[in-house]
Amino acid sequence: MNKGGIEMANILGNFNRASLVAGILLVLVIAIFHGGVMDIAWVNAFLRFAHVLVGILWIGLLYYFNFVQIPTMPKVPAELKPAVSKYIAPEALFWFRWAAVATLVIGIAIAGAPQQAYLVEALTFQSGYALIGLGMWLGIIMAANVWMVIWPNQKKALGIVEADADTKAAAAKTAMMGSRINFILSFPMLYCMVTRGVIG
Ligand code: HEM
Repeated sequence: MNKGGIEMANILGNFNRASLVAGILLVLVIAIFHGGVMDIAWVNAFLRFAHVLVGILWIGLLYYFNFVQIPTMPKVPAELKPAVSKYIAPEALFWFRWAAVATLVIGIAIAGAPQQAYLVEALTFQSGYALIGLGMWLGIIMAANVWMVIWPNQKKALGIVEADADTKAAAAKTAMMGSRINFILSFPMLYCMVTRGVIG
């Protein structure tokens, strides 16, 4: 491989360095398009960007669980299952539950920001805010589901906390149901999020 190839591999083969490059590209785009207008409106726009980024991380992992891991686990031979339950799933769940917190916090910040401050109006479904209010409530329910149902049960199911075989099996089932509920809620939630800015 030539020298350029080795250098590319040094960046692309390392997650932290690749993240740094992504960050640099982001700063470049911001500088080119919004470098001159970094006012309160820009902060709001940036919060939306950050909200969608961590929202994708959260819902992307939710879809990974529902589209890939849950349906495939029964087909994985018993001796290979620990690769998923001991390595892949705990890591996926780490990013999943913290991305949920970040999405929720930034979402609340957008609605509560002094510039617009419609948090209470939205959460109480006042006229003009019912659509985003519904989206926010669905997101709040989903985030609560992550922390109060999915994660505590996954801890038992994956053996992160001690549990007997029966408890483990029941916890795995409850976690799966919680995950499915969030999958179902994600469609209307996302519809409320994305249409609100366009057709109110
Ligand atoms: C967890 C609870 C959540 C809350 C409280 C919340 C709150 C909000 C708020 C207040 C807005 C701004 C709406 C407006 O004024 O136009 C918004 C927009 C948006 N949210 Fe959420 N959200 C949540 C979850 C999510 C999730 C999981 C996603 C998935 C990616 C998501 C994606 C979006 C998108 C794409 C927008 C539109 C951004 C734009 O067009 O500027 N949200 N959200």
